Amino acid sequence: MPDNYQLNINARAGHAIAALYPAARDVPCVLVIFGGAGDLSHKKLLPALYNLSLGGDLPNRFAIVGFSIEPLDDAAYQRFARDGIEQHSRQPLTEEGWKKFAPLLHFVSGSFTEASDYHKLMLRLAEFDRALGTGGNHIFYFAIPPQFIDDCSAGLCAEGMVQPPGSGMGFTRVVVEKPVGHDLASANEINSELARHFDESQIFRIDHYLGKETVENLMVLRFANAIFEPIWTARFIDHVQITVAEQEGVGTRAAYYDRAGALRDMVQSHILQVLCMIAMEPPRSTRPDAIRDAKLDVLRSLRPFEPADVERWVVRGQYEEGLAGGEKVPAYRAEPHIPPDSTIETFVALKCYIENWRWAGVPFYLRTGKRMAKRTSEIAIYFKHVPRILYNSRPAPPLEPNVLSIRIQPDEGLSLNIISKLPGAVLRLSPVKVDFRYATASPEAYETLLRDVIAGDQTLFMRRDTVEAAWSFIQNILDAWTASPTEPYPYAAGSWGPTEAAVMIARDSRAWHTL
Ligand code: BG6
Repeated sequence: MPDNYQLNINARAGHAIAALYPAARDVPCVLVIFGGAGDLSHKKLLPALYNLSLGGDLPNRFAIVGFSIEPLDDAAYQRFARDGIEQHSRQPLTEEGWKKFAPLLHFVSGSFTEASDYHKLMLRLAEFDRALGTGGNHIFYFAIPPQFIDDCSAGLCAEGMVQPPGSGMGFTRVVVEKPVGHDLASANEINSELARHFDESQIFRIDHYLGKETVENLMVLRFANAIFEPIWTARFIDHVQITVAEQEGVGTRAAYYDRAGALRDMVQSHILQVLCMIAMEPPRSTRPDAIRDAKLDVLRSLRPFEPADVERWVVRGQYEEGLAGGEKVPAYRAEPHIPPDSTIETFVALKCYIENWRWAGVPFYLRTGKRMAKRTSEIAIYFKHVPRILYNSRPAPPLEPNVLSIRIQPDEGLSLNIISKLPGAVLRLSPVKVDFRYATASPEAYETLLRDVIAGDQTLFMRRDTVEAAWSFIQNILDAWTASPTEPYPYAAGSWGPTEAAVMIARDSRAWHTL
């Protein structure tokens, strides 16, 4: 398609929306990271905090305390953080930035199941509260396997570190990492454990996709522009595709991934959340619960899968060896620590429907996979074909429909293909692309999310009912797979997934959007 209508727009200083929450920098507090010396902290949390510090977005009165079993002291923890920042930070480490950030870092070595270690933690927090004047504001970030959530919550409660909302003794917030559960029953159990210790208003369940700038922008695109909403319905939209493709393989997370698979790992959380942003009704306000209610309605309107639908409309795949980024890579079953007979899916594609008036009869095709041709996440909105008259009359093949594609990552932006006349005496039509690209680098999702936790804004976090509604939709698929186990379809690493995924959408006389 010729790119002759390319626009590169540099968004300028915008229209500020009145904030509902204080700026994070004005909220004194202590952030305790359970699993503070783990992988997530090293790769994501500490680099994100460093970037917030560079931007002046951390509270002026603030401390970060890593808490886990490793025998580290503050100095060793600072070295650990520095290493993580050097390797993974969005903005490079500078000595000036480090000098400001390093003194915030502390470590308490302790076990998640040892009462005396919670006592040690409590004493250390009390010291920070006194020295910094935090007013008792504490955030506990659970970067830990879900089986420890109950122990950690109980340990905090036993030492009086959890204050009910409105106690006047400072706030307590708890951040819970995905996955919340392995299925509907375990999600319910984890949520009930959390509810025994915390009020829902204190719980921040992370789905880092919601922290991505482009995902957040979906609502702005829909509800701050007059041109999209009137045509955002079954009357004008033929179908929607959501693709989250990764080039990476399973990496070092074999133990987790080989129990989870692509459906649990990506669809239950990230892709369904994106679907909600695309399909939700305009919320009654921008308050967190209004937005979360609107998203919940979408999840609850998803047509439940019957076993026969699963067989026909859900495709599971697993990567074979192939080429990723020009390099030969092994099959999933040959990856370290993956059983050679694993039947877990590394790719899934499915078709689903949202049963409400806006979306009646509009299929939503979702697909995600590891070791795909390239790393790209995109939403493609296919509009209906124009009638077979005038420029679209027979016998010429039908004109391509308009497609609005919203690129979540990388290369964030959106493009709309429209039919246009090619210059010249002969009337020739061709799709051209109007393209908008973000010209500035976006902050990492974890930067946005950590800032929001400190500010107390739950908008981008998942409420209990949302998580459970997403699981309840996925559960029917899991049950059908358990009742009739099948081998996943193979696909070559570096491809777009198994041919069966193309066959599935072709059954509806459609094709996957070319990415
Ligand atoms: C995580 C999944 O939630 O998201 C990973 O567990 C996946 O398997 C990752 O690789 C993708 O995130 P991003 O931000 O790289 O698209």
